[in-house]
Amino acid sequence: MSSNSIFRGNHVGLLRNISKSAKSPASNILELLNNTLEAIGKNLGTHHCIIYEANLSQGIIFLSGYNIESSNHANTLIKIMQKQAEDSLQYQKITFEAIEAFEIVYLIPLVSEKHTYILALSFPDELNNFEIEVLESLSTMLSATFDRFYLQQQISQQYFSTVKSLVVAIEAKDVYTQGHSQRVADYSKIIGQHLKLKDEEIKELEVTGLVHDIGKIGISDQLLTKPDRLTETEFDFMRQHPEIGSKILQPLHVSENIMLGTLLHHKRYDLSGYPLKADIDKLPLVPAIIGVADAYDAMTSERSYKKTITKQSAVAELKRFRGTQFHPGIVDIVEELISNNKL
Ligand SMILES: [Fe+2]
Repeated sequence: MSSNSIFRGNHVGLLRNISKSAKSPASNILELLNNTLEAIGKNLGTHHCIIYEANLSQGIIFLSGYNIESSNHANTLIKIMQKQAEDSLQYQKITFEAIEAFEIVYLIPLVSEKHTYILALSFPDELNNFEIEVLESLSTMLSATFDRFYLQQQISQQYFSTVKSLVVAIEAKDVYTQGHSQRVADYSKIIGQHLKLKDEEIKELEVTGLVHDIGKIGISDQLLTKPDRLTETEFDFMRQHPEIGSKILQPLHVSENIMLGTLLHHKRYDLSGYPLKADIDKLPLVPAIIGVADAYDAMTSERSYKKTITKQSAVAELKRFRGTQFHPGIVDIVEELISNNKL
């Protein structure tokens, strides 16, 4: 390692820090790129750090930048770096150019399976051979990270469509429950947005809404479509669906929030309800939201054994069990959303 390196600290440590940030959970590619740029900016001591996508039909497109807002000549810089990026594309290797007396831009191609990015980093001085080697390692490491990100996205999309098909299969058994899971997912998403939860948590709420009743696949059709009220023994069978559901989800390695939301969506706020045995001292937020959304939809949609009721009567019913069956804060949100015509 060079003793008077422009880079801040040990080179291996720098790469490890950048790699860690690039692997932190991101819900979309822009978030991933921003995490990566921030880590590079903080760890390598760059003046400016910009990422472009090299697109076959549109050429070089600016995606994001670090430390460009604070720069007076940001727009000029973006354009100059973009021009350099266009020129560098044909080489597919690290190139550099002095663009101002005190600024040298390094262009690093990041070629992943589906996308080509150009990382443009500006430094106050020319880098030495060791530092160029670090940039080469960075290029390989980030290209692999982006490949993995796209693959994970593809897998989660495929998983999501499989889950959706399963839900459609369950709901097809009973004309009265068709669309129920999608509505619970939609209502839960709206409640999550109102609570200003993170994008990732809102997505988890949506998935949980879709899968919360997936355990009904293990309940007989006769029971699911019975027009009369269920007997106590039949109820006991029916009450097993959250546990069956969580067992179905287990091999899919879904997040803890989705697991708990499915397992505990019939657990009440006062911790009665089912499953009887649950190792919790407080109802977590996801099952609390799903529980309210589930009950609200059950009341406002037509079922074989009852007629639909109005939104206002459903809210009155939720309020009747506010703080016992239902999470008081979520009931208040549903009431507010309905009075503002958002639900
Ligand atoms: Fe359920």
